[in-house]
Amino acid sequence: MAHKTEFLYLSEQDTIDAGVLDAEKCINNAEEVFTLLSKGDYLMGGANHNSHGMGLVFPKESPFPNMPVAGPDRRFVAMPAYLGGRFDVCGNKWYGSNAANPKNGLPRSVLTVTLNNKETGEPLAFMSANLLSAARTGAVPGVAARHLARKDSEVVAVLGCGQINKSCLRSILTQLPNVKKIICYDIFEAAADKFVEWEKAEIGIDAVAEMDLEKAVKDADVLTVAASRLKPLYVKDEWLKEGVTVLITGPMQTDDSFWMSTKLIYDNVRLHEAYVQEAIDSGDKAGYYKGVIGGPIYTLIDAGKMPKLEDSTSIGEVILGEKAGRTDDKERITFVACGMATFDVGLGYDLYHTALDKGIGTKLKLWDDPYQAK
Ligand SMILES: NC(=O)c1ccc[n+]([C@@H]2O[C@H](COP(=O)([O-])OP(=O)(O)OC[C@H]3O[C@@H](n4cnc5c(N)ncnc54)[C@H](O)[C@@H]3O)[C@@H](O)[C@H]2O)c1
Repeated sequence: MAHKTEFLYLSEQDTIDAGVLDAEKCINNAEEVFTLLSKGDYLMGGANHNSHGMGLVFPKESPFPNMPVAGPDRRFVAMPAYLGGRFDVCGNKWYGSNAANPKNGLPRSVLTVTLNNKETGEPLAFMSANLLSAARTGAVPGVAARHLARKDSEVVAVLGCGQINKSCLRSILTQLPNVKKIICYDIFEAAADKFVEWEKAEIGIDAVAEMDLEKAVKDADVLTVAASRLKPLYVKDEWLKEGVTVLITGPMQTDDSFWMSTKLIYDNVRLHEAYVQEAIDSGDKAGYYKGVIGGPIYTLIDAGKMPKLEDSTSIGEVILGEKAGRTDDKERITFVACGMATFDVGLGYDLYHTALDKGIGTKLKLWDDPYQAK
């Protein structure tokens, strides 16, 4: 019996037509994924089922002239996952990143997502994933804003004015109807100015560029942090006001006193346990910690100055009502998110189904009948 296999190809425009820029849709999707993470109905890579992904590490130099060598933001990473619940599907995000890309008219990283039938492995969809990945990344602090931020928040500080923070801000603002001012900080004034221009054109809330970090954060009710690693971003404890919600998507450094006093909510405690295990396995724990968002936190946990990860809270537990989120207007809450393939698979799945329902995308054939099965 012939077994034809087709899959749906979605270009970037197709993903837009399927709703990838609809922030509310993406937040609802991410919230559902968080509940599955909390219940444990998912798998990611590695023996611990919680690896962020597997990267190709380029050597500093190579005797082979064509072999890629290390460079700024230069890597390839595969991020596989199975997601349960109504999704019940496997998938993989695969991307290549190179800081030199923008000179060639390309985004810094180029991403695609594949979805596969969990039983047979046949591809269901293959899609452009730059917008998908940014949307799922932005949706995560959107979920956190929904559950952890003060509803009367009026001022949002944007730290790092790049693509990811555009998506984070778009998403966070859907949850905070009282925001009246946006303060944009970047090490490059041009980047902050450009972000302000974009915000005014696309969202339209009063926005200013601020090159002094203390001034940028001191009145903020919410911080969205997504700076790259061009320079360390150090936000002093004393600058942050009572009741602030700090939404961390990219690396941030602060005083130990802040980490130790803020209520810390993780995207998924198991992911952070896996990071710590990978740090131990690497043989250079301190070096490994330097490269991951949670590094400063794990260092304090190891020193016994913060609660162990196993005693900590994942946002899924807050969403499910199992643990407390914000309990008063004065507490300072920090949410740490490192990015998980489950969100790419979850959002990719919904875009795929919307595309199928609306006739978006191009059906491609893998085979009419597989040669090897004859
Ligand atoms: N958690 C996740 O799921 C996830 C997913 C994707 C990207 N990220 C992270 O988000 C961050 C931003 O990614 P992007 O694609 O928007 O990068 P980008 O290069 O488009 O933008 C980053 C911006 O940060 C600025 N910047 C760098 N150092 C700074 C500093 N010390 N202070 C202020 N601004 C600074 C840069 O000038 C740039 O404008 C990166 O750290 C990336 O690794 C996280």
